[in-house]
Amino acid sequence: MTGRHRAADDLGGYRHLASGKVREIYRVDDDTLLFVATDRISAYDHILPTPIPDKGRVLTAMSMFWFDLLAGGDGLEPVPNHVVAVDDPRIPASVRGRAMLVRRLDMLPVECVARGYLTGSGLIDYRATGAVCGVPLPTGLVESSRLPEPIFTPAAKAELGEHDENVSFDVVVSMLGAERAEQLRALTLAVYRRAAEHAQSRGVILADTKFEFGIDSGGRLVLGDEVLTPDSSRYWPAEGFAEGRVQPSFDKQYVRDWLTSAESGWDRHAAAPPPELPADVVQATRARYVQAYELISGRSFEDWLG
Ligand SMILES: Nc1ncnc2c1ncn2[C@@H]1O[C@H](COP(=O)(O)OP(=O)(O)OP(=O)(O)O)[C@@H](O)[C@H]1O
Ligand SMILES: [Mg+2]
Repeated sequence: MTGRHRAADDLGGYRHLASGKVREIYRVDDDTLLFVATDRISAYDHILPTPIPDKGRVLTAMSMFWFDLLAGGDGLEPVPNHVVAVDDPRIPASVRGRAMLVRRLDMLPVECVARGYLTGSGLIDYRATGAVCGVPLPTGLVESSRLPEPIFTPAAKAELGEHDENVSFDVVVSMLGAERAEQLRALTLAVYRRAAEHAQSRGVILADTKFEFGIDSGGRLVLGDEVLTPDSSRYWPAEGFAEGRVQPSFDKQYVRDWLTSAESGWDRHAAAPPPELPADVVQATRARYVQAYELISGRSFEDWLG
């Protein structure tokens, strides 16, 4: 991953703690953090020089929609999450709508990935081993095949700038113990199924997704980070889905198409960073993010905080 990991300034009196590819984290107090989603976008392992207006607000709105649904909004068993508030006087006005106040958790060092379809690093693993993260799969699967049932394919969290490493369930057991590992697998798959079912009802395939869990001060397992955003998930349009080929990305397809077109003049296998995006690609991509949010949530982005 290349990127501008410049040291960000403090915000509204809160100390800057960390920069992710697209997010900034600040300390509010000993128990509380401020998570700010920026408008940065990444593609082909690069942070692009051109931001997508409103992306941070859309992804925050989407994350909040899913946190609420999983907290019992769908009538199923509530999944506790780390959100304290998204509309709160402690959130600086400059980041309102794209910031969440969250409880500080003791994060587990495992990215909890669920896959319902075979693509990306899962497909590479399958082609080499017939399995993904040690989970055996039937023969004859191809790019984008729907799996017989969703699988848990954890990754060990890497240092900043490094890729997370896919690991087997046994590695998670050795890291966290059998009980915790089994709890994570069960919860990850249950949450994936709930979300995938909801997405399907809106005409969107949730191919895979990544959750991060932490332990709160009471020792409870809590869903942290962002959830079920296009940055942590692969969303595909259900219409036109066909296995055997790479699916268009719901959100980033215009960006990828342009970056790999002759027009951009960019070679994604060369060392040079990607060029600025043209205005029409930026606007089309912004519209895709808004559309994804509105489609999945059934809410209007106009009504979101900002
Ligand atoms: N409630 C929480 N308390 C403490 N840490 C949290 C909480 N929720 C998420 N985190 C952690 O905050 C960090 C979020 O950082 P972010 O995702 O922006 O960057 P990253 O994971 O280092 O890089 P990337 O851009 O590749 O995701 C992660 O390390 C995540 O585990
Ligand atoms: Mg992250």
